[in-house]
Amino acid sequence: MSFIVAIDGPAAAGKGTISKAVAAHFGFAHLDTGLLYRGVGKKALAYSRTSYYPEVAEQLARELTADDLLAEGLRTPEVAQAASKIAVIPQVRSALVDFQKTFAKQSGGAVLDGRDIGTVICPDADVKLFITASAEIRAERRFKELTNSGQNVELSQVLQDVIARDARDASRDIAPMVVADDAVVINTTELSIEAAIKAAITVIEAQRSQG
Ligand code: C5P
Repeated sequence: MSFIVAIDGPAAAGKGTISKAVAAHFGFAHLDTGLLYRGVGKKALAYSRTSYYPEVAEQLARELTADDLLAEGLRTPEVAQAASKIAVIPQVRSALVDFQKTFAKQSGGAVLDGRDIGTVICPDADVKLFITASAEIRAERRFKELTNSGQNVELSQVLQDVIARDARDASRDIAPMVVADDAVVINTTELSIEAAIKAAITVIEAQRSQG
């Protein structure tokens, strides 16, 4: 029996941490779909300017391997921006759809997090969550993560990057980041990560007990 939890939301709202914790709690598999776009974005950066041409970027997406998702350097601000640029290309999105849909349907349950999971990849998901927070608090959290991992960044630049990426993700024609009609919104601006995880687990448990 499959059970699908779709978790969407803007950059650095806590989706990744919540998704991992939820997957561990319920024993579900977890896919961070942002990694697919980051994998293609990283290749695009390494390739050439033409990699932002739809047919070249599509090819890079089709050639993505599991090793590409384990590569170093996927979490840098440059790769995040490149990911959001190639993510507007419809051919890139189509090339990545089947993998995500197949992952979602595995028996034993799955948690997928991204921007279009509840709207496009798994519109029939059993639970849809939209995790959000103010841009300022998200930038602060991302700034801490980046500096803790040894990257040299300015908070004001991180805030600008977060705002630019959200605007691009929310305004694209194909699969924009929007709150699905039937999603439960969790605003983590004033929540500790523990409280946010607890809120997510409570919503999922309520749905599971309804069968
Ligand atoms: O979630 P993360 O910040 O790693 O995603 C990087 C970028 O990948 C996002 O800014 C977005 O442009 C793109 N993305 C997407 N659809 C998804 C997941 C990520 O367009 N489902």
